[in-house]
Amino acid sequence: MREELLDPEPGPDDLDVEGDLASAPAENDEAGLRPRRLDEFVGQAELKEHLSIVLEAARRRGQAADHLLFAGPPGLGKTTLAGIVAAEMGVGIHVTSGPALERAGDLAAILTQLVDGDVLFIDEIHRLSRAVEEVLYPAMEDFQIDIVLGKGPAARSLRLDVPRFTLVGATTRTGLITGPLRDRFGLVARLDYYNASDLEAIVGRAAGILGVELHTEGATEIARRARGTPRIANRLLRRVRDFAEVRGTGVVDRDTAHAGLAVFGVDQLGLDKVDRAILDAICSRFGGGPVGLSTLSISVGEPTETVEDVYEPFLIQLGLILRTPRGRVATPAAWEHLGLTPPVVEGQDTAPPSLFE
Ligand SMILES: Nc1ncnc2c1ncn2[C@@H]1O[C@H](COP(=O)(O)OP(=O)(O)O)[C@@H](O)[C@H]1O
Ligand SMILES: [Mg+2]
Repeated sequence: MREELLDPEPGPDDLDVEGDLASAPAENDEAGLRPRRLDEFVGQAELKEHLSIVLEAARRRGQAADHLLFAGPPGLGKTTLAGIVAAEMGVGIHVTSGPALERAGDLAAILTQLVDGDVLFIDEIHRLSRAVEEVLYPAMEDFQIDIVLGKGPAARSLRLDVPRFTLVGATTRTGLITGPLRDRFGLVARLDYYNASDLEAIVGRAAGILGVELHTEGATEIARRARGTPRIANRLLRRVRDFAEVRGTGVVDRDTAHAGLAVFGVDQLGLDKVDRAILDAICSRFGGGPVGLSTLSISVGEPTETVEDVYEPFLIQLGLILRTPRGRVATPAAWEHLGLTPPVVEGQDTAPPSLFE
């Protein structure tokens, strides 16, 4: 239960999009809470400003917007922004993902069916195969694709025009994308974890849509434990609402939020079991570190990519671990959070380090 609740990946509650972002919301699903326009999108002020300029300029010129890449940990709003781009431009959107495009022909089929100006959203774009990526380059640059007909000596290549489209890519890290692909985006935007007041606003907005009576202090309590992630904030709100309806009057105030979150096992910092396992491994098993990423991943039983993309960024942001050239290191705050005493390093607790050593 706990893992599911704090997992930033879409869960069973979050009936996520395949094909059509606008396909209508049932009360509980994530699609219903997705902001549709840029001004409903909370936070990320700098990104929103850049995006609104790019889109407004394209609109004035009557052209498709430049290709856009959104990068950041899961649950921060990349898919939502793809939908917003299409809505703001007043165009259609076609949704697919890196792993879904197995062959070059899969991408060619999609590209040739687009309408002028459409948005093509490729989620997890870092997982595109090399062959598909190679079809994408000329499509992004010249709106043309080369199709090879036949095999062997008789094979011919045919050049086809495709409609002018806007590619919106999403990835967990820009570093995972090949240089040539990254260079073909007109705007590469990084999404950061949300601060407490943005998360409060997001929870408040969701409560309005779901018809939950939410007090400010209840919102604060939920926002504080949402790992800086809107998807998690919304999910915690739905569970606290369940708790409030079953065990209380349905109103979510500070005490109900507190009690509800405790029932669902969310800790004070909003850390989940894997977060705590990572901290515990570094502190208890590896003496506080440094420990290499792959050793650490094996010891908590998660893929290195998940540890690096999903768990670490948040633990680093909270100042619980550090990434050093020799590996991951736990900070005193990590020991404290686990209720452990950090080892005393010779000389460290007596005098502050001298500038002249
Ligand atoms: N800036 C935001 N303002 C309000 N709600 C947001 C925002 N960003 C994300 N959300 C909510 O979080 C959910 C997850 O966002 P999503 O775009 O699917 O994340 P990602 O694609 O980055 O994993 C959305 O359904 C939406 O309800
Ligand atoms: Mg997404």
